[in-house]
Amino acid sequence: MDFIELLKKRRSHYLLSEDVVVSEEVLCESLRQLLLYLPSAYNSQSTRLVLLLGDAHKRLWNAVCDKIAMLVTPEAFAKSRAKIERCFASGLGTVLFFEDEAVVDGLRREYPLYADSFDIYSEHTSAMHQIAVWLLLVENGYGASLQHYDALLKNDINKMFGLPATWRLIGQMPFGKALDVPGEKSVVSLDERFRVVR
Ligand SMILES: Cc1cc2nc3c(=O)[nH]c(=O)nc-3n(C[C@H](O)[C@H](O)[C@H](O)COP(=O)(O)O)c2cc1C
Repeated sequence: MDFIELLKKRRSHYLLSEDVVVSEEVLCESLRQLLLYLPSAYNSQSTRLVLLLGDAHKRLWNAVCDKIAMLVTPEAFAKSRAKIERCFASGLGTVLFFEDEAVVDGLRREYPLYADSFDIYSEHTSAMHQIAVWLLLVENGYGASLQHYDALLKNDINKMFGLPATWRLIGQMPFGKALDVPGEKSVVSLDERFRVVR
């Protein structure tokens, strides 16, 4: 697909089905390849991706619902649960984005002069992976959105999926076959956002 067309096609989709569009093998291999070629601060390769499918994908969104149930009124919870089921759990899977704090700590020790910057670089590195994964999902025929239930999940998620304790959750990207058509987006003038200086 033409690159700009691919960028245009990537939107946040909030109505997903679990229909399989490409095989699990193709999807896994694409994600593995993507990890090989993306940039990272100081080539640290601090990003960790976890592809949740099947029961694991459902367990994630059930866990989010359980957490919300403890924090809000029953009426508010009913609304949240309906949204989570329709928009996220209904999809085929979720890609989880982590940053390995052991790697980031290593950078701090190796380059003490820049120690204060490595948390920020780690977030930037994750963001590069997030947009690349989102575009890869679109290229493979899926729709997705980007979610941030990290604060609710952070104490349990590593144990829930048997992941190393040093992996810090950054974001969740539920995906599936898109059943919705996103509305028009407001656009800030390009004159505000782009300059050429000679
Ligand atoms: C850093 C970042 C964080 C975001 N967090 C969320 C989020 O927590 N929940 C959500 O539904 N969308 C989230 N989004 C998606 C944006 O709301 C969305 O990309 C934006 O409104 C433009 O819509 P589009 O994705 O359809 O182009 C996030 C996007 C970015 C770049």
